[in-house]
Amino acid sequence: MTGQAPPTRLWGARFSGGPADALTRLSTSVQFDWRLAPYDLLASRAHARVLRAAGLLDEHELSRLLVALDELDHDARHGLFRPSTEDEDVHTALERGLLERVGSLGGKLRAGRSRNDQIATDLRLYLRDHARQVVSRLVELETALVDQAERTMHVPAPGMTHMQHAQPVLFAHQLLAHVQAFARDVARLQDWDRRAAVSPLGAGALAGSSLPLDPQAVATELGFSSAAANSIDAVSDRDFAAEFLFCAALAGVHLSRLGEEVVLWTTSEFRWVELDDSFATGSSIMPQKKNPDVAELARGKAGRLVGDLTALLTVLKGLPLAYDRDLQEDKEPVFDAVDTLLLVVPAVAGMIATMRVNEARLAQTAADGFALATDVAEHLVRRGVPFREAHEAVGHLVVWCSVHDVDLGDVSDDDLRTISEHLTPDVRSVLSVEGALAARATPGGTAPARVREQLDDVRQLVHEHAAWAADG
Ligand code: ARG
Repeated sequence: MTGQAPPTRLWGARFSGGPADALTRLSTSVQFDWRLAPYDLLASRAHARVLRAAGLLDEHELSRLLVALDELDHDARHGLFRPSTEDEDVHTALERGLLERVGSLGGKLRAGRSRNDQIATDLRLYLRDHARQVVSRLVELETALVDQAERTMHVPAPGMTHMQHAQPVLFAHQLLAHVQAFARDVARLQDWDRRAAVSPLGAGALAGSSLPLDPQAVATELGFSSAAANSIDAVSDRDFAAEFLFCAALAGVHLSRLGEEVVLWTTSEFRWVELDDSFATGSSIMPQKKNPDVAELARGKAGRLVGDLTALLTVLKGLPLAYDRDLQEDKEPVFDAVDTLLLVVPAVAGMIATMRVNEARLAQTAADGFALATDVAEHLVRRGVPFREAHEAVGHLVVWCSVHDVDLGDVSDDDLRTISEHLTPDVRSVLSVEGALAARATPGGTAPARVREQLDDVRQLVHEHAAWAADG
């Protein structure tokens, strides 16, 4: 079936008939790439100025074009100009809009550029802008975690390895561990941004232009740090999108790990935290239920973020240079990742900011599971006992305590001596949670003074993240 030629097509003169409907449906991207319109218009303004500088537009033509582009921008933002089902993509729709406003003058803007360098530019502009929005939301999450850490600076908690009680830690220490991960996610995006700050405009379809364009001027106007060094690479490179998706996927994985912890913490087995009603959901059948859906969705959304990365890498694999239409498939994963993060991160930040920490429960269980056993072993080491022997002596002590159902500190002097010659009564001096926490004073450790340093340092970092995101 052959359909009617759409009113504005950016190609078609060499074709005898219009495209088949099936082709049109397959090829049309305007339903998802329309969100690039503001960025496409920014690039168009910059390109118009460069055409003027090259003498390809006169002053009057330039100002008419700029006015029309501003108008189009306004109308597009307010829904007064919309893409039609006939527009193949965002570029087609905007060219139609321009032609409707300035007639044939609108056709001059296409000189020296191609949709290939335009789309690569639009996506970079979109992502650099949205990376800052994502970082703003991550700053809210970092802040929520740091504030909770501030409030729980004095609260001992069970520290786990293999999901088994290992050694007591400050609850704040654990919260700040999550902040470190999110802070690296932000740093990764900042680092990504330096590599993404390269402008493809001027590459044309792939080979550059015979017109006297000024790619560096366009790059500067659009906030890029340089113009692409190689025009073939400029139109075919999607590293910037894949790398962004990796940053997003890893942030998603970090959100899922925090989500999983919150799910555990809210169980009646743990009872470490209670979620605020505004960040919990109920059950349609069980009236008593309070479910951690935000945490579960944070955990689940990691799946689609990893999927977005996988989808794009798979599209890129084996693609020959330069532009191939496969590259149109870069956008939906990227948009999905951005939308997902902008949806999930604020919910997780709100959940963390409003959760109530059950300090008594954490403190009571901090030393459960013989979590002070390492302290006894290290006490023996300070007395000169080889760690291997100390480990064995305390292992016997733990077995003895399990069998007799008592704590490490409840064993009599005689029984201690019977268990091991190394176990003299002074070992009891290290059997306090406060002592165990204070003793772990290595940098980054759980001693209150060390955790305070971590908190202060990370607050400074979060301020820097916020400033970067606001910098535009
Ligand atoms: N919609 C296209 C994309 O997203 C724009 C570039 C089209 N270029 C072309 N030569 N057909 O990649």
